[in-house]
Amino acid sequence: MANIKERTFIAIKPDGVQRGLVGDIIKRFEQRGYKLVAMKMVHADTKMLEEHYKDLAGKPFYAGLVKYMNSGPIVAMVWEGLQAVSTGRKLLGATNPLDSAPGTIRGDFCIQTGRNICHGSDAVDSAEREIALWFKKEELVQWDHHSAPWIY
Ligand code: TYD
Repeated sequence: MANIKERTFIAIKPDGVQRGLVGDIIKRFEQRGYKLVAMKMVHADTKMLEEHYKDLAGKPFYAGLVKYMNSGPIVAMVWEGLQAVSTGRKLLGATNPLDSAPGTIRGDFCIQTGRNICHGSDAVDSAEREIALWFKKEELVQWDHHSAPWIY
């Protein structure tokens, strides 16, 4: 799916927020050229997190994952741009940070799968589902920096 403009759901997990990595993570997406179209801080309840991770229900780590995600606020975001879903995953790194290359977010900032500081949609259809789960339509902001005369 080369050169298709997509939207992806990216979240900074509670440990990423608590460790003061919000700015660093946002910066990676901005400097790569992606456009932030929605963002909010939210302390998600268990019901929301169970829905978000429903494909993983039944996995041995599921209960711990929901508890960890519920342990503090997260920063929920939607980023837009060419191949945002797959490239977003590349920016995050592998699920297990020990397999993440240096230069990726997980490869630079963490070492444990269960504390891997960020989430990114794994496919275009899951991105659509996750964006609809976390954001109301009106929270997705349409904007175009090319029309701003002070950016050149
Ligand atoms: P998954 O959707 O497989 O990975 P990703 O977040 O990279 O899309 O798993 C969701 C989260 O579950 C993962 O980010 C961390 C946690 N997890 C564990 O705690 N233990 C595990 O063995 C796995 C596979 C995931």
